[in-house]
Amino acid sequence: MPGAPQGRLAIFPGSFDPLTNGHVDIILRSAHLFERIIVAVLVNAEKNPLFSADERVAIIREVFKEYPNIEVDTFDGLLVEYARRRRASALIRGLRAVSDFEYEFQMALMNRHLEPTLETVFMMPAEQYTYLSSRLIKEVFSLGGEVRGLVPSTVEQWMRRKHSAVGA
Ligand code: PNS
Repeated sequence: MPGAPQGRLAIFPGSFDPLTNGHVDIILRSAHLFERIIVAVLVNAEKNPLFSADERVAIIREVFKEYPNIEVDTFDGLLVEYARRRRASALIRGLRAVSDFEYEFQMALMNRHLEPTLETVFMMPAEQYTYLSSRLIKEVFSLGGEVRGLVPSTVEQWMRRKHSAVGA
């Protein structure tokens, strides 16, 4: 990596469409371990996202506005390139269950192949969030189910607003 990596800066990358309480749990745990965390929202990941990348950034900023060591940004292209640019020393990924392992293992090793000095650190969320996923939150919400307690209240409000805006 060009230049010395900044002391204990970690990137938590993802789609965050939307941010769940599982993500929040991992971000807060990581913020205890690293001096700075960048929550990096992947742009253009899904063809039909619920929230645009800008909306996702605004939501996550609102949720973490009290945390000066948590930054929110977007990235495009290769994650390791973004990590190099930001001079991060680690990537954070959440592991909810064994089913996450294979994909995460492949990604971590591919990222290590591309950038050997960048470590991937796996964190487990609190048990009550191990079944949560953004995809299920969207499905449950769109079918009229209750998502309170599963996403931050800011996310719930944005989802309600979006729902009424599209006239659903
Ligand atoms: O929340 P997600 O959707 O599981 O996050 C996946 C993400 C954004 C971490 C992954 O898709 C990614 O890193 N994309 C950027 C492109 C890239 O670097 N691909 C190679 C990964 S080995």
